[in-house]
Amino acid sequence: MSELDNLRSELMAAVDSAAGLDDLEKIRVSALGKKGRITELMKGLGAMDPDVRKQAGQILNAIKGEVAEAIEAKKQGSANSELDARLATETLDVSLPVRPAREGLVHPISQTIDEVVAILGELGLSVAEGPDIEDDWHNFTALNIPPDHPARQEHDTFYLPGRGGDENEDDRLVLRTHTSPVQIRTMMNSEPPIRIIVPGRTYRCDYDATHSPMFHQVEGLVIDENTHMGHLKGCIIDFCRAFFGVDDLPVRFRPSYFPFTEPSAEVDIGCTREGGEFRIGHGDDWLEILGCGMVNTKVLENCNIDSSRYQGFAFGIGIERMAMLKYGIPDLRTFYESDLRWLRHYGFSALRVPSMVGGL
Ligand code: PHE
Repeated sequence: MSELDNLRSELMAAVDSAAGLDDLEKIRVSALGKKGRITELMKGLGAMDPDVRKQAGQILNAIKGEVAEAIEAKKQGSANSELDARLATETLDVSLPVRPAREGLVHPISQTIDEVVAILGELGLSVAEGPDIEDDWHNFTALNIPPDHPARQEHDTFYLPGRGGDENEDDRLVLRTHTSPVQIRTMMNSEPPIRIIVPGRTYRCDYDATHSPMFHQVEGLVIDENTHMGHLKGCIIDFCRAFFGVDDLPVRFRPSYFPFTEPSAEVDIGCTREGGEFRIGHGDDWLEILGCGMVNTKVLENCNIDSSRYQGFAFGIGIERMAMLKYGIPDLRTFYESDLRWLRHYGFSALRVPSMVGGL
């Protein structure tokens, strides 16, 4: 019995002088754990005389409860003082101003597409889309560019193996060289009146400061019974003036050739190039910015549209070129270098959505 008394004082003294939570846990395991000293003694009770067993059992139970309680109480105190110590050393200056969050920016290509869509949307055109991987028929043949036509070579096409996997020319696929195949898809799938714009990626095998193998266009297509060249001119002139924010911007239609439009025109806007300085607006120089024309009757017929009843116009705008002109970006290749410093310089706030009312 005096042995048990000693054990009790020894354990209580250990608890009393324990330095922290870790120490207390060690004491608990060594006394009350599965192989702890008290646990082992309790296992030995069964081998004792009944009288002794009863007395020893009571004492052991009492020691067990006392030690467990002492450990718990000490743990609580320890935890509190550890927290106090941390609170005393950690400081938080709530008067510090917040660090500005780095907000995401809209790429100038996306911004320019949004602007073009905002202007032409206001004129009543709605957005249509088509696949980047086209077949030869939609990209060329239906647009009145037959297999031996020189325009095919000019487009520097990326070809893919045909659906059958072979190099059969009729069946082969291409990365679309312009957004014009979406004209075909729309006319095949809907009835006039048609009023669409098609922003999207286009591909040609070309690479220098003004050409990239992947670039962007916005196609426009308007088909109705009485749509004529005057509508085309009005639409393009309004668009150019709104896009560049110059109310009296000179716009010139120069006769040109595209297989899918007849007559066709290239559109130039006025600019000045004086002493290395370039400005859009009045001046004695012209800059080509887009191609357009009245949709060729052959194209209408290829899409099963009655060309004696319907006519209309189409245009194609190069997005990179428009963005470079409007925002003074000198090299087209920088659009795709994913350089964050460049984006921070040329990017746009995501919260300022371009619109005709709010500004472009
Ligand atoms: N698809 C022509 C091109 O990429 C542009 C264009 C579109 C011209 C529509 C006329 C009408 O060069």
